[in-house]
Amino acid sequence: MKPHPARFPPQLPEFFINFLTNEGDLVVDIFGGSNTTGATAERLNRRWMICEQNEDYLKGSRFRFEAEEPDDPPEATGNPQLFAAPPSK
Ligand SMILES: C[S@@+](CC[C@H](N)C(=O)[O-])C[C@H]1O[C@@H](n2cnc3c(N)ncnc32)[C@H](O)[C@@H]1O
Repeated sequence: MKPHPARFPPQLPEFFINFLTNEGDLVVDIFGGSNTTGATAERLNRRWMICEQNEDYLKGSRFRFEAEEPDDPPEATGNPQLFAAPPSK
């Protein structure tokens, strides 16, 4: 599985999450991609929700919750229903 082609560096959501939210707040990213935002929010003890239209990107984002180094994508295997259902047609 190919990594998402336009991932954020985690420092970007980290800056804004720390600046704008408190622990326990809900962080929403409506263009979730590989879910850098959700993984960063979780690490900073925030709740999170993302939207992503591409199911492969959702599958690929699972590495962030399994890897020891969450920014290094290994071969991702995943359970997409953990994150979202594909958009209805
Ligand atoms: C620039 S990427 C986000 C990358 C993300 N910040 C990361 O670090 O991986 C934007 C994402 O928005 C998704 N997207 C675009 N339009 C969308 C829509 N209407 N609903 C859900 N996702 C959408 C694209 O599939 C793409 O993965």
